[in-house]
Amino acid sequence: MIRDDDIETDASVREDARTDGGTSAEGADDVALDPWGSSTISDYRKLFEEFGIEEFDEVLSDVPNPHYLMRRGVIFGHRDYRPVAEAMRDGDPFAVLSGFMPTGDPHIGHKLVFDEIIWHQQQGGDAYGLIADLEAHSARGMTWEEIDKHARDYLLSLLALGFDPEEGELYRQSDNRQLQDLSFELGSKANFSEFEAIYGFDSGTNVSHLQSVVTQMADILYPQLDEPKPTVIPVGPDQDPHVRLARDLAARMRFFKVTEAYASFELTDAERDLVASLYETLDPADFDDDDLRCVHVAQFLDGVTPEELDVVVDAETISSAQTKLNEAGMEPLRPRVRFLDANATDEAFDALVEAIDGEKRRYDEHIDAFDLSFEAADELAREVEVEHGGYGFVAPSSIYHRFMTGLTGGKMSSSIPASHISLLDDPEDGYNKVKSATTGGRETAEKQRELGGEADKCPVYELYAYLLSGDDDEFAKEVYDECVGGERLCGGCKEQAAELMRAFLEDHQEKREEMEELLDDLDISTDSQRRGVAPSDD
Ligand code: TRP
Ligand code: SF4
Repeated sequence: MIRDDDIETDASVREDARTDGGTSAEGADDVALDPWGSSTISDYRKLFEEFGIEEFDEVLSDVPNPHYLMRRGVIFGHRDYRPVAEAMRDGDPFAVLSGFMPTGDPHIGHKLVFDEIIWHQQQGGDAYGLIADLEAHSARGMTWEEIDKHARDYLLSLLALGFDPEEGELYRQSDNRQLQDLSFELGSKANFSEFEAIYGFDSGTNVSHLQSVVTQMADILYPQLDEPKPTVIPVGPDQDPHVRLARDLAARMRFFKVTEAYASFELTDAERDLVASLYETLDPADFDDDDLRCVHVAQFLDGVTPEELDVVVDAETISSAQTKLNEAGMEPLRPRVRFLDANATDEAFDALVEAIDGEKRRYDEHIDAFDLSFEAADELAREVEVEHGGYGFVAPSSIYHRFMTGLTGGKMSSSIPASHISLLDDPEDGYNKVKSATTGGRETAEKQRELGGEADKCPVYELYAYLLSGDDDEFAKEVYDECVGGERLCGGCKEQAAELMRAFLEDHQEKREEMEELLDDLDISTDSQRRGVAPSDD
């Protein structure tokens, strides 16, 4: 129903054009991903090509009972979601976490994320919802009073939609000591120049803003404090820079780096691919030997051009690999897994040597093991790390949803009330907003019957697909087919959508009220009693 190229209109739930520390968008085209800019994403395909986000469709079949947002392509992309899907399928531990900046009312765009958290919780995940109050204060200049009010509203909606606070955890960044400790540790593995490169921060960026980024890194890894586990972070694609940095930091905190190797020296990834393919194809007998030796491979590579090889490789890589192989001379080329010491304590290093089964060789900075698969080695490294006081983080995963188109066309923006529907809107206002929404309809009823409507360009259809149809794919499909088939006219279609929206808001707000008491009993404060002034920025 929703195809790859459906949503051409830039649609972002972020309204704030405030530049806090510049943006990475300068000079780039409109796919630059900027967490604090007004994200304009006009071509989702570029996110795959330029940022390495993967298409969700590719993992869809691995997900047991996928959510309707997955089935309908609203969740369009992911990073490394497979381990989460596998854990879900096998009943292994996994977690879901997302955060909300309390800068305004929660609206139907946030509902997507609420639903994603809740669904993963229902699939057996440890679920976390957090209020990004430090970020709202330092990056958006919200006062603590405003933050407290909005925080309460986000939490009530999350609970009303089905988040189970007994099983899951809700917290505010400012209130969570463990989180702050983790954030401090992670900060020691990040430096300012990275922040410049990733976020466009500069010498005028306020330091609390930096701190809020490190706090978000801690948020993302927080579910793994008990034990390492696959964790999914459902967000909009504007948050991808945060996800990438968190994945990097998770790796930098590890005690050991596990790699595949072929001899005692280190190869780059490209060199390793080359050597791996040669190991598979070359026969030691061709060199009058029982073992394939480094020097044999070097000889073979003499004068070989990239085109003559089965593997994609450049001439430079061939020559650098050849040099290394020549230097190693008669050393046999022999596959092994290597544990590089990154942050290990001496005890952990010794313990790992002990724990490795089969043939192994110990060096100053690394250990080679000859009888372990990469997967087994990776697991062993994590076990030893955790036993010796490390975190053993699994790289966090993410899923990305499309931004909704504004009801008035253009982007959905909190600062244009008619463009979005707040979860707190009076149901009657919600009804009216849908009734006055732009559509993908034709100029006249006649033309519409003849040509059909353009559901793919219609914000009202989006409401059906993203929210109003709920789990009922048949219904969403019916609306789509009737629209493009010319059987459905916009007046009646909007009336139906408006009524459904009104009913949804009535029901949601009733549930919110029922949650007030529960929220007051929870261990999360919506009265922070903090003091502060607006942050400074250039
Ligand atoms: N930066 C996010 C936003 O702008 C909020 C956030 C804070 C968050 N911590 C997080 C999102 C952790 C996902 C995971 O909305
Ligand atoms: Fe949109 Fe409905 Fe009109 Fe189709 S019939 S263009 S879905 S409002």
